[in-house]
Amino acid sequence: MEFHVYENAQKACEAAAILIAAQITSKSDCILGLATGSTPLPVYEKLVEWYKNGVLDFSDVRSFNLDEYIGIDHKNPLSYHAFMQENLFDHVNIVPENTHVPDGDMTGEEYDASIRAAGGIDIQLLGIGKNGHIGFNEPADAFTYGTHVTDLTQSTIDANSRFFESIDDVPRQAISMGIGSIMEARRVILVATGKDKAEAVYKMMKEPVTPHVPASVLQLHPDCIILVDEAAASLMK
Ligand code: PGA
Repeated sequence: MEFHVYENAQKACEAAAILIAAQITSKSDCILGLATGSTPLPVYEKLVEWYKNGVLDFSDVRSFNLDEYIGIDHKNPLSYHAFMQENLFDHVNIVPENTHVPDGDMTGEEYDASIRAAGGIDIQLLGIGKNGHIGFNEPADAFTYGTHVTDLTQSTIDANSRFFESIDDVPRQAISMGIGSIMEARRVILVATGKDKAEAVYKMMKEPVTPHVPASVLQLHPDCIILVDEAAASLMK
């Protein structure tokens, strides 16, 4: 794994945006794997800025998102469909039919088949949960290969409750690309920022690969780049 530490979150995200921009520039019809959450927001801001400046063209780009809550309407502002519209798709010239976010109306097999039919993901953007999850692959006794519906752990429900009016409103289930779907991406970039992520980053990088720290599987990926700020790298010394 490549591991790079930046002075702050903004710079770590800018480095991730550079890698995605380079992918789009070198292969205009590339397939992006996209992530939601607070961490990647500055990544999307940069991509939008470079589109508006005329540096990037999304007209042939296709995208597949990692995950979505189950039981939330696409129009709900807290859905990941809405997140992607608001933070990226509405601001660039990506063709709506070329964007894909999973939902409970499709099976995991159908979603994985559509990724493969498109040619596979060229570059997958990831965040990491405090519990080491990637997508909604929560700590478990075994890795789940394909896209699947999963129960969220209490740690994830607590972490996501900051967006909802009350903890009771946080969905208990999600559909997520599996570990295999993620590992099939030709390149993976993971961004982690803030001291809350320091322990997960340490375990991902330094401990043996285990489904109890799902991100640790990335140690086995042949082209994985980890971009962190100093706070998230604080246990690595
Ligand atoms: P966050 O979520 O970016 O909102 O911290 C990351 C994740 O849970 O994967």
